[in-house]
This record gives sequence, structure tokens and C-alpha cells, in this order.
Amino acid sequence: MLYRHFRNTDPPFLLLAWNESFITRGAAIASNLSTFERYALNKPYFDPEGLIVAWDDTKDQIAGFCHAGFGPNADGTALDKTFGVICAIVVRPEYRRGGVACELLRRAEAYLTYNGAKTIIAGPMKPAKPFYVGLYGGSNAPGMLLSEPGAHPFLTKMGYVPETQVLVFRRRLQGPINVVDHRFGQVAKKYETQVLPGYSFSTWYRECCLGALEPIEFQLQSRQTGHWAARCLFWEMREYQSKYGTMPAGVIDVQVRQEFRKQGLAKYMLHQLLKYLQEIQMGLVEIQVPEQDTAGLRVVKSLNFEHVDTGVAFRKHVPVPGEYLG
Ligand SMILES: CC(C)(COP(=O)(O)OP(=O)(O)OC[C@H]1O[C@@H](n2cnc3c(N)ncnc32)[C@H](O)[C@@H]1OP(=O)(O)O)[C@@H](O)C(=O)NCCC(=O)NCCS
Repeated sequence: MLYRHFRNTDPPFLLLAWNESFITRGAAIASNLSTFERYALNKPYFDPEGLIVAWDDTKDQIAGFCHAGFGPNADGTALDKTFGVICAIVVRPEYRRGGVACELLRRAEAYLTYNGAKTIIAGPMKPAKPFYVGLYGGSNAPGMLLSEPGAHPFLTKMGYVPETQVLVFRRRLQGPINVVDHRFGQVAKKYETQVLPGYSFSTWYRECCLGALEPIEFQLQSRQTGHWAARCLFWEMREYQSKYGTMPAGVIDVQVRQEFRKQGLAKYMLHQLLKYLQEIQMGLVEIQVPEQDTAGLRVVKSLNFEHVDTGVAFRKHVPVPGEYLG
């Protein structure tokens, strides 16, 4: 097996390995090369040395790849190279359990530590999700999903420890969306919903990670002042349509202004959003909530979302700079 860095001629082989390797719910099938490149490669910080390819030189074909990147600095204006992220590691089924992933990961870790990483996270998750949002994990970057059978035992064997968990929820949009809440009448009198396309993220890093989703903003605006009190983003999860059998929408970045919390605004806004998404022919909605976000969990459960998967970000501490293996 030959291990080497990314070459410009690799994308068709990466696409093949990607589409063959994931059979479970959490990864999209990339319908073509442009789609794969859009979410996996077309980022200003893409570094060919961070994408390691395992190439079977006896059959002249790809066996797998591992793609590493970096998290953001505190204000999202640049990379923080002390914070390494293993974004994807895939081995085609015919090459599994032969140590290929183990060697790919070792080389990706060496790349990260050579460039300054002190900590390595396996599984992109907020705030560090440099590649693959839109293609892996559903509505957002959830770390590594439990529904992928090999990922967790593999990472545990490689010395990673589970750190942060995110719960993945989904709600189908067939049938009437009836949610009863005595506060809704008052809220509807004070606020109106607005749909605002053309959203741009507030920091460079977030724009790089999430801009390709082309999200649309959904707001609750005060009828009196015109200011928003609650907002969220949604995007059309086009690449997941074939896997889910219907067009899904992803919801991210739900926010209620501090002074308007505990008045049912998030619940009301998401209820309105569900109705809107149903109107525009979306078949289901997916949303991710960190396990410690009790308010968020209450809201999605009250709207009859179902818990369908769990994502975990794994951490490995890197005590000394690693030898760069090239
Ligand atoms: C996870 C994955 C990359 C592992 O690839 P691999 O080349 O088979 O892994 P290795 O042979 O290097 O495995 C090293 C060790 O990890 C553990 N391991 C790997 N796959 C495992 C599995 N399916 N079940 C249990 N343990 C597993 C074993 O301890 C193994 O050592 P052993 O074979 O001596 O017992 C591969 O299964 C895969 O591509 N899965 C789909 C993609 C995916 O889920 N990627 C992660 C999210 S991006």
C-alpha cells in the first residue's frame, strides 16, 4: 500500500471511496464530483498535505483516505493550528481490518502535530468543522456518528477518548403540524415571521465551513420595532435526498435574544418554520442539539422531533510534537 498526499487527479477516486464507504444514515451520497469538491475540498485553507491517500499500487486503485484540518482562532479570523481536527477517515470495504485506517490516521496526526497541533479532535464539531459539513453528519457537524459501526471502536483503539456529544433529531413533515401552547396567541400578536435569503456568516472561519450550505434566515420580528427577537437558519439538504427518500431541511443556529428567553419564542418560531418548510415541500427536518442544552432538548421534544442518532467528538492529547512522516 502506498500512502501519499493529495494530488489534483484524486477527486474522482475520493468520490468513489466516499460513496462506497458509508452505508448508514449519517453521510450523504455525493451525486457528482462538483458536489464532493464543494463540501470537501473547496476551502481557502485546503492543504494537499492534510489529505492522505492510501493507494493500492498492485491494483492501481484507491483504498481509502484521511482528511485533517484545523479549528478557528478565538475570533474566527484565522486557523488555530494548535487545534487539529480529523475530519474524515474512510476505507473502502474490501480493504477493511487490514490496518489501513490505522496508518492513515497515524500520518494525519503526524501532519497535524508537525504543524503545531497540541490537541486533536476526531469528528468535526462546533467550533472546529473545517471540511465536510453538508456531506457528513446531516444538518450540521456532529463529530462521528454512533450509527457508523466502525468509527467508534476504531478511534477508541487509536487512543481517542469521547468528549462532547450531540443528539440528532428528525421530524417528518407529513400530515398536519399541530402543537398546542397557550402562549402562542400572545406571541403571534407581537411577532411576525420573516424569511431572509442571502445569509452571510459573521466570521471568516464560519463562512468557510458553512457558506456552501447557502442557508436562509428565518426570524421572528417584533411588529412594533422591526427588530428580531429569535432567529435560526435552514438549508436544503440536497445531497441527503436519495438516502432519506425525501427532501430534508437542516436547521442550525437557533437563537433567542437574551431578554426574550423563557417566553416560548424558540418553540413558536420552530413551529412556524415547520409549517413553512411543509409548504415549500420539504419532507423532513433535522436538527442537532448538544446533550447539555436542556432548554434546546425540551423545545425539540415538545415539537415531536425524534432522536435518531448521536454524534461524538473524540479527543487525543498530543504531549510532544510528532515526527512528520510525509
Ligand atoms: C472506521 C474505518 C475507517 C476503519 O477502517 P479499517 O481500515 O478497517 O481500520 P483498521 O484495520 O486500521 O483498524 C484498526 C483497529 O480499529 C478497530 N476497528 C476497526 N474497525 C472496526 C469495526 N468495524 N468494529 C470493531 N473494531 C474496529 C480494531 O481494533 C482494529 O484492529 P484489529 O483489526 O487488529 O482488531 C472503516 O470501517 C470505515 O471506512 N468506515 C466507514 C467510514 C467511517 O465511519 N468513517 C469515520 C467517520 S468519517
